[in-house]
Amino acid sequence: MKPRIFSGMQPSGGLHIGNYLGALRNWTQIQYDYEPIFCIVDQHAITVYQDPQELRERCEQLAALYVAAGIDPEHAAVFVQSQIPGHVELAWIFTCATPYGWLGRMTQFKTKMQQAESSQESIGTGLFVYPVLMAADILLYQANIVPVGDDQSQHMELTRNIAHRFNALYGKTFVVPETRLPTVGARIMGLDDPTQKMSKSAAGPNHAVSLLDPPARIKKLIGRAVTDSQPAVRWERPGAGVKNLLTIFQSLSGWSERQMESHFAGMRYGDLKRNVTEMLVSSLDPIQAKYADLMANRDHLRRILRGSAERIAPIAEATVRLAKERTGLYSA
Ligand code: TRP
Repeated sequence: MKPRIFSGMQPSGGLHIGNYLGALRNWTQIQYDYEPIFCIVDQHAITVYQDPQELRERCEQLAALYVAAGIDPEHAAVFVQSQIPGHVELAWIFTCATPYGWLGRMTQFKTKMQQAESSQESIGTGLFVYPVLMAADILLYQANIVPVGDDQSQHMELTRNIAHRFNALYGKTFVVPETRLPTVGARIMGLDDPTQKMSKSAAGPNHAVSLLDPPARIKKLIGRAVTDSQPAVRWERPGAGVKNLLTIFQSLSGWSERQMESHFAGMRYGDLKRNVTEMLVSSLDPIQAKYADLMANRDHLRRILRGSAERIAPIAEATVRLAKERTGLYSA
């Protein structure tokens, strides 16, 4: 049997090329080597308020993006967290088995807490226990491998610790999963600030190319991307912005270092940007066409989500049954 992989993304706004090249495309490339489960984590999204109607719409948009980007729903499960009740059932059991101090050490939480404090916002308890829900997502399916970015490595460590702790307290119940980081070179930086990883929450208008941006917008965004004070590509030591553009081109084209060097060394920035724009437009075009198709045929999209959920529900149910039995929770 192939090892099972589980990963997920939040339905909070569209995906940008950083999400695609850093995660989603990686999933599409490895999917046939595994038994893949790809989740849309709407329960994570509501740790901060979401407009209800928009949230529902974004779940379907994200599902359509997964499939449009190349996730094969005949092979991989593509579903929304809330379709399977086991996530929250297991999350409660884990919440009780997780020391408070472990969650207090999560740097992502501490950062969000500081941001909220400085903006006088109140912060939901869900944001604090969020990593426990993530652990439940993964352990519910007894996943062996979890492909996530390095920003999730602390949450993965916690997931492993929760699995170990539960197994120690109640007897071996959960598979302890491994992290699998995306292949190197796929770390895409902000176009407006190439020292920061491209992020969904960075609000700058020139920060990211969305997977659904039309050609004219891509051209404008790449045209405005930060380079450096040189006129042309210094292959040996490009500035961070130039390097980022080269990384985008290389990961979309699959070119070797040699091909990249002979094509781009000494190239003027205007031409570099034209190359990157063309590569982006031609790479995103088929994804956008497939996305439009899926969004125009909602019944089909919903059948994919329902079919996936039905396929994996027995795995989740078996795990919840076992976890309840082990912890002594009642069922008659
Ligand atoms: N926490 C992840 C993020 O913010 C999303 C996520 C939730 C996830 N549950 C998961 C990722 C389980 C992998 C596995 O990106």
